[in-house]
Amino acid sequence: MDFDFTRLPPQDRYRLLTNFVGPRPIALVTTRSEAGHLNGAPMSFFNVFSQDPPIVILGIQSRPDGVEKDTLRNIRRTSEFCVNMVDMELAEGMILCGVNFAPEVDEPAFAGLGTRPCRQIGADYVARTPCAMECRVERIIDYPRRAIILGEVVEMTVRDDCLDASGRYVDPAVYQPLARLHADNYVVADRQFELKKPAEAAEWEAAPQAAPRKAGAE
Ligand SMILES: Cc1cc2nc3c(=O)[nH]c(=O)nc-3n(C[C@H](O)[C@H](O)[C@H](O)COP(=O)(O)O)c2cc1C
Repeated sequence: MDFDFTRLPPQDRYRLLTNFVGPRPIALVTTRSEAGHLNGAPMSFFNVFSQDPPIVILGIQSRPDGVEKDTLRNIRRTSEFCVNMVDMELAEGMILCGVNFAPEVDEPAFAGLGTRPCRQIGADYVARTPCAMECRVERIIDYPRRAIILGEVVEMTVRDDCLDASGRYVDPAVYQPLARLHADNYVVADRQFELKKPAEAAEWEAAPQAAPRKAGAE
């Protein structure tokens, strides 16, 4: 089957894209409202794209009536947000945070998720998250009814038991992130395996090239 995306209605594009591009990691995004309420909402149009600068990206769609979601409104106002990674322990709470509550509802509290103040931004993070990333907005790209938010990570707080004895890598027996597949289907990373390049690959690698000299450079 073939689908011409230039002719498909947006809801069909959404269905196809989210059915096939997965699993998508889930960011439980916490922000602070103007009235001081903590807000929490899951976002699976999310990933990390760079370490220098350290950039994560969120895609936030407006509600069907065109009104911006609380998360986006709070991010525009404060230029800050926190990404809380989600594992099975947080799954039920994450789903509750996805309910379209009124802006004054503190979703993490409603969902029974304890929180702690972030270190560099004005929001709170989820206390039991395996990893919280405090972000400042790098830029927002606006489309009609959709905003793509680039956030620069300024602080990462990791739950100690998620790290191995060296403290450098995750312990895969402990950190098993949850991700979204299609519709209400999710997957947990509990069947991890190692896949290494063959030993000969070192000989196949192209030799590093000198960077091209800029015109006029000495
Ligand atoms: C697993 C999951 C992933 C979601 N991903 C997104 C997303 O990437 N972008 C988006 O706009 N909404 C997404 N949603 C829907 C929002 O979480 C939902 O609209 C929520 O009510 C927004 O809350 P807010 O108004 O407090 O920001 C997702 C929901 C779930 C359950």
